[in-house]
Amino acid sequence: RSAEEVDTAAQQSSSPLAFAFDIDGVLIRGDRAIPSAKRALTILEGDNPLKTKIPYILLTNGGGIEETERCRRLSKELDFEIKPTQYIQAHTILKTVVEKYANKPVLVLGGRNDDVRKVAEGYGFRRAYTTLDVKAWNPSVWPFYDMTPDERASAQPVDFSKTPIHAALVFHDPRNWALDVQVLCDIILSGGIVGGPYHEPAVPVELVFCNPDLIWRSDFDRPRLGQGAFREAFQAVYRALKGKPYPYTQYGKPTAATYKFAEQVLRDRLAEIQGGPVHEMPQVYMIGDNPESDIAGANGAGWNSVLVQTGVYDPANGPPPHQPTHIASDVEEAVRYAIDREL
Ligand code: G3P
Ligand code: MG
Repeated sequence: RSAEEVDTAAQQSSSPLAFAFDIDGVLIRGDRAIPSAKRALTILEGDNPLKTKIPYILLTNGGGIEETERCRRLSKELDFEIKPTQYIQAHTILKTVVEKYANKPVLVLGGRNDDVRKVAEGYGFRRAYTTLDVKAWNPSVWPFYDMTPDERASAQPVDFSKTPIHAALVFHDPRNWALDVQVLCDIILSGGIVGGPYHEPAVPVELVFCNPDLIWRSDFDRPRLGQGAFREAFQAVYRALKGKPYPYTQYGKPTAATYKFAEQVLRDRLAEIQGGPVHEMPQVYMIGDNPESDIAGANGAGWNSVLVQTGVYDPANGPPPHQPTHIASDVEEAVRYAIDREL
């Protein structure tokens, strides 16, 4: 390791605190950095009274592309290098469950075109199919949509009448809710075969969602519907058809599984920085804009939490449903508060 790396390691290993930043509504709005984000990261890079580099990770319910590609884009938008070892998105946790379905056909949902197929294959899912593959196989599966030339070009030729789907994994926010709800109903009601006879299968199709956000903050003036709203739309249709909701596994903030996974990523990141195992975790501060995902999850994980007012949370709507350690106007104020508190 170079002298500079050793120096960085010495500095960051002595930091009494570490940060976990939410992205949308805290660092970014749409695809542009929030002005206070660059000031906050400058403080963490060393411009602070602790005179140390203060370590941080990014923890988002976003996703849809490979972690390396998202980090490349974030580094450009934030003007700071974000490494994949600092970055957790909604579906990163699926790397820990891939063995179960590595060689079995699974349906992967969300994101643009077949970007999520590439993510799934990168995790080790060898037979990952999309709802656009199903539409390409038999366009009458959903008559009210015509595929774009791009979508046609990236669809994989599969005969779904002979391809039993074992699990449906919603990686990111679906783009075509109608097609996706229709195909989800088809595979679940038939036990995995699109167009197959409806029956109660011996082994039901496993359904997994990676982000429970009903709403999130992009660059529109009001929060937007998130993957949690898609889940509610699917469950409403399924309940109308079957009289009861369909069981599913939920990952993403605020679930304990995701925060436990994030704590391990942070621990590994600290070990990477200081070149050895972490014996005692520093105080962790989660900075988020959504009380339901960022504050509830951090509180449940025993982290400190700071709620900012640049995203979903609007003080005009009254006190947040989950009590943060502190409420700050933006991420810079949140970082300054945490550092002052740990001094
Ligand atoms: O799809 C992204 C959205 O649900 C929330 O993203 O970064 O605020 O967790 P984030
Ligand atoms: Mg957010």
